[in-house]
Amino acid sequence: MSLPDLLKGRLSIPVVGSPLFIISNPDLVIAQCKAGVVGAFPSLNARPIEVFEQWLQRITSELAEYNAQNPERPAAPFAVNQIVHKSNDRLEQDLALCVKYEVPIIITSLGAREDVNEAIHSYGGIVLHDVINNFYAKKAIEKGADGLIAVAAGAGGHAGTLSPFALIHEIREWFDGPLLLSGAISNGNAILAAQAAGADLAYIGSAFIATAEANAEQAYKDMIVDSTASDITYSNLFTGVHGNYLKKSIVNSGLDPEALPESDPSKMNFGSGGSSKAKAWRDIWGAGQGVGAVKQVVPAAELIERLRTEYQAARERLSSL
Ligand SMILES: Cc1cc2nc3c(=O)[nH]c(=O)nc-3n(C[C@H](O)[C@H](O)[C@H](O)COP(=O)(O)O)c2cc1C
Repeated sequence: MSLPDLLKGRLSIPVVGSPLFIISNPDLVIAQCKAGVVGAFPSLNARPIEVFEQWLQRITSELAEYNAQNPERPAAPFAVNQIVHKSNDRLEQDLALCVKYEVPIIITSLGAREDVNEAIHSYGGIVLHDVINNFYAKKAIEKGADGLIAVAAGAGGHAGTLSPFALIHEIREWFDGPLLLSGAISNGNAILAAQAAGADLAYIGSAFIATAEANAEQAYKDMIVDSTASDITYSNLFTGVHGNYLKKSIVNSGLDPEALPESDPSKMNFGSGGSSKAKAWRDIWGAGQGVGAVKQVVPAAELIERLRTEYQAARERLSSL
C-alpha cells in the first residue's frame, strides 16, 4: 500500500472526490480541497478552453491563499481529468495548460498514453488512470501511470461490473503503488472497507452531486436523495460505454429503463462539441448504487464532515472487535 507523497499530511479522510461531467466546478473542487479531500474536475467541463485557464487560475490562487493562511492544515491538492480518447480534440491544448499550471494530479480515462504521462511527470505531477479490470490496469502502469483507480461494480457514470474485492485483489497481486477504489462508496464504513480490501484511498462521485456547490439542477440533487440502489440502471445506450444512471430520469425522458436498446461503442464522442453526449448527461442523470446513504443536499464540507465522523466511528468499532 502506498500513498503518493504529495498527499501525505494533506487529507482529512482517505478520499478523492471524483471528476463528474458537467457537475464538477471550481466551487466544488475548492470546497473539497479545503475540507481535506482531493477535488477533481474534467477539463471539458470548462468550455471554451479560455474558461479552463480561468478555472485553473482561480483554483490554484485560492488554494495557495488558503494554504498561506493555514500552514498547519493545508488544503488537499486538486486534480484534473483528461479524457484520453481519439474524439477529444482538446486534449493537446488542455494538457499544455495542465503543464503551465502544474496541476498536481491528472486523472486519465478511456486511454493510457506514454506522452501524456511524460508531460505530467515533467513538472512533478502524478497520473492516476481509471480502469475496470486487471488487463487495463497492467497496460496503464506499463505506459507510465503512477497509480490506478479501480472502478468496480455499482459506480456512477461509466462503471465496471467486477466486485471490488475481486478487482482490488487481482491488482494488488502485482501492483504495490497508489490504488484507489470506486463504486458506491458514500459512507464512512465503505471508506474503511476500501482500505481493508487493499486500496489506499476511496474515490467518491455520486455523493458529491447532492451538494450545494455541485453544478446540477435541484431536481437531480433531490433524485439522488430520494433514490436507493434499486433505482439505478446499467446501460450503454447513452454514451456507447456502460454506465449507471438514475432510472427515474430515464422515465422522465420518455424511455423505459427496463427495455433500453444496446448502443454502438463507435458512436462515442468526447470532443469539445460533444453535443449528443452532453445532452445525454444533461437529461439522463448518472449516479451509482451508493445513493441510498445520501439523505440530504448539504454543502460539500458538511458531507465530508459526515464521512469523517462515520469513518472514525467505523475504525473504533473495528478496533474493539
Ligand atoms: C454524473 C457523473 C458524471 C461522471 N463524469 C465523469 C467524467 O467526466 N470523467 C470521469 O473520469 N469519470 C466520471 N464519472 C465517474 C466518477 O468519476 C467515478 O468513477 C464514480 O462516480 C465513482 O462511483 P460513485 O459515483 O458510486 O461514487 C462520472 C460519474 C457520474 C455519476
